[in-house]
Amino acid sequence: MEPIVLKHPLIEHKLTILRDKRTGTKEFREIAGEITIFLCYEAMKDAELELVEIETPMAKMTSGKLNEDKYAFVPILRAGLIMGEAIVKVVPNAKIGHIGLYRNEETLKPIKYYYKVPKGIENRTVLLLDPMLATGGSACDAISMIKEDGVKNIKFLSIIAAPEGIKRVREEHPDVQLYTATIDDHLNEVGYIVPGLGDAGDRIFGTK
Ligand code: PRP
Ligand code: URA
Repeated sequence: MEPIVLKHPLIEHKLTILRDKRTGTKEFREIAGEITIFLCYEAMKDAELELVEIETPMAKMTSGKLNEDKYAFVPILRAGLIMGEAIVKVVPNAKIGHIGLYRNEETLKPIKYYYKVPKGIENRTVLLLDPMLATGGSACDAISMIKEDGVKNIKFLSIIAAPEGIKRVREEHPDVQLYTATIDDHLNEVGYIVPGLGDAGDRIFGTK
C-alpha cells in the first residue's frame, strides 16, 4: 500500500512552523495537535457509521453516528502523546492505549518499556500515533505488538516520515496503511530525519 500523504497548503504552512527551530514548546504542541486532527480526518474516511434517528428543531431525520468502540488510538511514548491528546478533541470517547518505546541512541533499536491497550483490542481498528517515522524500527515493533494481540486492521499516523522508514514498514507490514503529513528527504548518519524537525520528544516536552 502506498502511504497516504496530506498534500495541502494548510499542512505545508503548519509544517513550516513546526520545523522552524525558533518555534517554542507551546506552539510546537499546538501545531502538532492540529496536524494530527487532519491525519485523523484522512485516516477515518472509511469509518462505518451507524444510522440513528434524531430530531432537529425542524424535522425528524436518520443520520450516521460513529461507534467509537470500533477504534483504539495508540500513541507511542513519548512523542506520540501529543497526538493522542489531539485525537480526543475530535473523538472524545476514544479508547486510548499506550506503547512505551525509546531508541537506543547507538544501535537505534527500539527498547520497549510499557504496553497497555484497551480491552477487546482484537475487535478494533487501531490507529498508531507517532510524529516521527525514521528508521521504522519503533513503528515495526509497535505494529508487531498490536498484531500479537490479534488486531487485524492497523493504520499508522506520522507527521514526518523518512523514505527509509516507509520502506521498512511496507516490507515488514504490507497490510498496514501509512498516513503522513509529509515525506522528507533522508536519514542522517545518527538516524535523524533531514530536514525533519529535530527530536520530537525533546521539542514537545522541552527536555533539551
Ligand atoms: C522517536 C519518535 C519515534 C522514534 C522514531 O522516539 O517519536 O518513536 O524516535 O525512530 P525510528 O523510526 O528510527 O524507530 P524516541 O526514541 O526519540 O523516544 P521519545 O519519544 O521518548 O523521545
Ligand atoms: N526521532 C525524532 O524525534 N526525530 C527524528 O528525526 C528521528 C527520530
